[in-house]
Amino acid sequence: MKQFISANDVTNINALVSKALAYKANPFLDKQLGANKRIGLLFLNPSLRTRLSTQVAAQNLGMEPIVFNVDKEGWALEFTEGAIMNGTTVEHIKDAAPILGNYFDILCIRTFPGLVNQQDDYSEKIINQFIQYAGVPVVSLESATLHPLQSLTDIITIQESIALNSALQSKRPKVVLTWAPHIKSIPQCVSNSFSQWMNAWGEADFVITHPVGYELSTEFTKGAIIAHQQDEALKDADFVYVKNWSSYEQYGQVLCKDEQWMLNNKKLALTNDAKVMHCLPVRRNVELSDEILDGPNSLVTKQASNRVWAAQSVLASILEAQKK
Ligand code: CP
Repeated sequence: MKQFISANDVTNINALVSKALAYKANPFLDKQLGANKRIGLLFLNPSLRTRLSTQVAAQNLGMEPIVFNVDKEGWALEFTEGAIMNGTTVEHIKDAAPILGNYFDILCIRTFPGLVNQQDDYSEKIINQFIQYAGVPVVSLESATLHPLQSLTDIITIQESIALNSALQSKRPKVVLTWAPHIKSIPQCVSNSFSQWMNAWGEADFVITHPVGYELSTEFTKGAIIAHQQDEALKDADFVYVKNWSSYEQYGQVLCKDEQWMLNNKKLALTNDAKVMHCLPVRRNVELSDEILDGPNSLVTKQASNRVWAAQSVLASILEAQKK
């Protein structure tokens, strides 16, 4: 693997899931693979799970991780070609990224969308310039449109749950991604990415349900069934992935705060005793009810724990490619 930006960088999702589960069974299986290698984790935005799980994963492979909170501790970066830098930005990405490429063997970056300019966000203006100028493999820790480490984790968690439930092994599982209310404008990344990975994986019936106006980019959803009636969509679901996102069409806007869209036990009763997923962080009793999060069907803690094994399988695949 040369980089990890989207599902398109993975030739065999099931093989990557198997590799992750092998690391879960034996975290130090490849403890020498990353010896004498250094990994940089650059954060332009906050994180709990991504920053810690990726560090643990790197250390399990013998790598030295260094975390840099660019947003708080670095110079303000400029990303526009030909910019006259007489404003707030101090250093151009063309100057900073090659230096980072000299310091690190793998460069990981978190950079959220601005949710103002759809063209800038959906062209992945920022992470693509790190790729262009760093000269080392780049791993997305969540970019403007996608969150691939989360989506790989999600498929690992679904596969693990199927392996533990014989009733699910003899059928094609139904997976529903449902929009949930939120008070703020939230990126589409997790939902775009989950859709992209579910479609690329192709081993489930995949339904997306949301209010009118919350259609995601068809670049990622093509192949999924789209439904505007949540109760209909939830019927017989085996997995329900709960997530808020802001409007793609009316870019970045919050069009609906209807609390009827929040999943609770009454809605869960429509499903096939579905397992419930969320990437976290979650706003309790806004996005998802206490009764679900604290109940027996919630997979959220297991899901977040699996972030380590997803990151470890990706970093190992990049290190193996570097050795060839
Ligand atoms: N799910 C996720 O990416 O969590 P963090 O934002 O805490 O990293």
